Amino acid sequence: MPESVRLGVNIDHIATLREARKTREPDPVAAAVLAELAGADQITIHLRGDRRHIQDRDVELLRRTVHTRLNLEAAATPAMVTIASTHKPDTVTLVPERREEVTTEGGLDVLLNQNLVRKTAGELRDAGIEVSIFVDPDYDQIKAIVKLGVGLIEINTAKYSEARQPEQAAAEADKVAQLARAAAKLGLRVYAGHGLNYRNVRRIVAIPEIEELNIGHSIVARATLVGLERAVREMKELLRH
Ligand code: PXP
Repeated sequence: MPESVRLGVNIDHIATLREARKTREPDPVAAAVLAELAGADQITIHLRGDRRHIQDRDVELLRRTVHTRLNLEAAATPAMVTIASTHKPDTVTLVPERREEVTTEGGLDVLLNQNLVRKTAGELRDAGIEVSIFVDPDYDQIKAIVKLGVGLIEINTAKYSEARQPEQAAAEADKVAQLARAAAKLGLRVYAGHGLNYRNVRRIVAIPEIEELNIGHSIVARATLVGLERAVREMKELLRH
């Protein structure tokens, strides 16, 4: 087992804050530099069809500046394949996308979208990009993924993260662990993410098959709080006569 699970830092919400004012700050490119300085093993971004946070310019600049790995989450659409083939992130993680959703609501239904996923994954692979699929902890889904020749999955931990009762959280963590074990047996590499935070992450870290976690909201949320005191002090300093 490797010494630690790799951390992909999802910086979408740095861009969410910028887009709230349609201004230039905070810049996700600067955030990626700081995340890498702090030890992030990967920078993850989701270029949504509605461009609500990450913009095309961010993908372009991050591709030029990220020193670790760039993981682009994207819907399986021809437009996203074109963008990915142009900028060549290290990995594309295929996710489902619904315009009305606040965040990705579930894993990609590979059984329902076999032809589309096969075609999209093939095109991305031809462009030299590693393909991962964001999937719910469901054995039938991972069997279908193996058949499509995709070798990497990110297990959706949302149900675990959202569990309110300890028994429910334990049961959901168990589902993730069982699926991770089954996936590894089928030859898949296993990542996980969604809704993980400073309180609930340890149980997922304990699953030996999971190599990497992608975490966004809780890290950006914490950054705004742990950084607020310094930011206020700096402004107070400027207000002195
Ligand atoms: N993994 C995937 C596939 C996601 O869509 C997201 C959210 O963009 C994450 C991980 C990170 O989730 P969170 O922001 O809740 O940590």
